[in-house]
Amino acid sequence: MKVKNIKAYGTESAVADLKQMNINRREVTSKDVEIDILFCGVCHSDLHFARNDWGMTQYPVVPGHEIVGRVTQVGAGVSKYKVGDLVAVGCLVDSCKSCDNCKADLEQYCPEWVGTYGGYDKHLETTTHGGYSENIVVDEEFVLRVPENLDQAGVAPVLCAGITTWSPLRHWNVGKDSRVAVVGLGGLGHMAIKLAHALGAHVTLFSRSANKTEDAKALGADEVIISTDEAQMEKAVGRFDLIIDTVPYAHDLNPYVSTLTISGTLVVVGYLGPLDPMLVTVPLIMGRKSVAGSLIGGIAETQELLDFCGKHNITSDIEVIKIQDINNAYERMLKSDVKYRFVIDMKSLKK
Ligand SMILES: NC(=O)c1ccc[n+]([C@@H]2O[C@H](COP(=O)([O-])OP(=O)(O)OC[C@H]3O[C@@H](n4cnc5c(N)ncnc54)[C@H](OP(=O)(O)O)[C@@H]3O)[C@@H](O)[C@H]2O)c1
Ligand SMILES: [Zn+2]
Ligand SMILES: [Zn+2]
Repeated sequence: MKVKNIKAYGTESAVADLKQMNINRREVTSKDVEIDILFCGVCHSDLHFARNDWGMTQYPVVPGHEIVGRVTQVGAGVSKYKVGDLVAVGCLVDSCKSCDNCKADLEQYCPEWVGTYGGYDKHLETTTHGGYSENIVVDEEFVLRVPENLDQAGVAPVLCAGITTWSPLRHWNVGKDSRVAVVGLGGLGHMAIKLAHALGAHVTLFSRSANKTEDAKALGADEVIISTDEAQMEKAVGRFDLIIDTVPYAHDLNPYVSTLTISGTLVVVGYLGPLDPMLVTVPLIMGRKSVAGSLIGGIAETQELLDFCGKHNITSDIEVIKIQDINNAYERMLKSDVKYRFVIDMKSLKK
């Protein structure tokens, strides 16, 4: 298969910094769209993956799954997009397209889903590489349309931080009378607040950081609870229909379960792994409460979200960086020192 050799940024090991490298992209096949990448968001998952936090990384890794760009070429069989269109690619670039989950627009739960990076690239028989790169070639079924009224850098995080919080908000039917809480004000958390607020819910933030209170309210939170303050946690018992927990590391879910209403659900989207301390089942049983998980969102649901953002003029609050600053950005993200998402201006790679 014909390939193009392009510039990218990635890492060769869990302990090495990201640096410039070259990767191959396939030439467009009949159903492919080639996208010149304008902006790429920086997700905490990029850092987990680059540093092998989940124990499954194959190197080299080129992260990035919050991609916004312009179409530069389309295959002969492409019908949805043309050269010049403003488009996006999120966390998925392929799936089997025939299983029950794919047929139900739940490609993210397809047993054969292919991640934008770190997945298996059936065309090149190698690992997929993400958006910290000059361009990307993607099957048109996994390309999304970006409303032209939205800020091109600010819309990038909608592709992961946005859809990961939108999907549970929609699945658990959040609307005008819902009481929603969000745990952690980072990339995912700030999008969860904006989206739940736009759906008309009453929104509360649980945060360790008292200095984020004003920001949270400006983003659309009605209330902030400092999770380390026992008196504040005590007052919150029995209040929330849905809690979206975005914390990236093992932490105690039990205090949050207590704040659910009868039949309420705490959905974990942040942390992947065994809970520590263990979950106590008593409040679950005594209150028909659920602890659930959720993975990104399907292609149709991501398009629904982009259209919703276009209509309500919602984008992410971002700090734009150059690709050369990515290692520093990772260190700052670990300290929660970003309001509230880094987005890479990919012009910096092309120079
Ligand atoms: N399920 C999915 O499909 C999916 C998709 C994308 C990302 N993720 C995962 O979601 C997680 C969050 O990603 P992100 O990009 O939003 O990360 P982020 O920007 O780093 O935000 C995480 C927030 O969690 C809180 N936090 C951090 N460390 C904590 C700790 N040790 N204990 C308690 N709270 C802590 C902080 O908020 P406060 O200062 O307010 O407490 C922080 O701002 C990551 O693990 C990522 O891999 C999952
Ligand atoms: Zn992500
Ligand atoms: Zn499938």
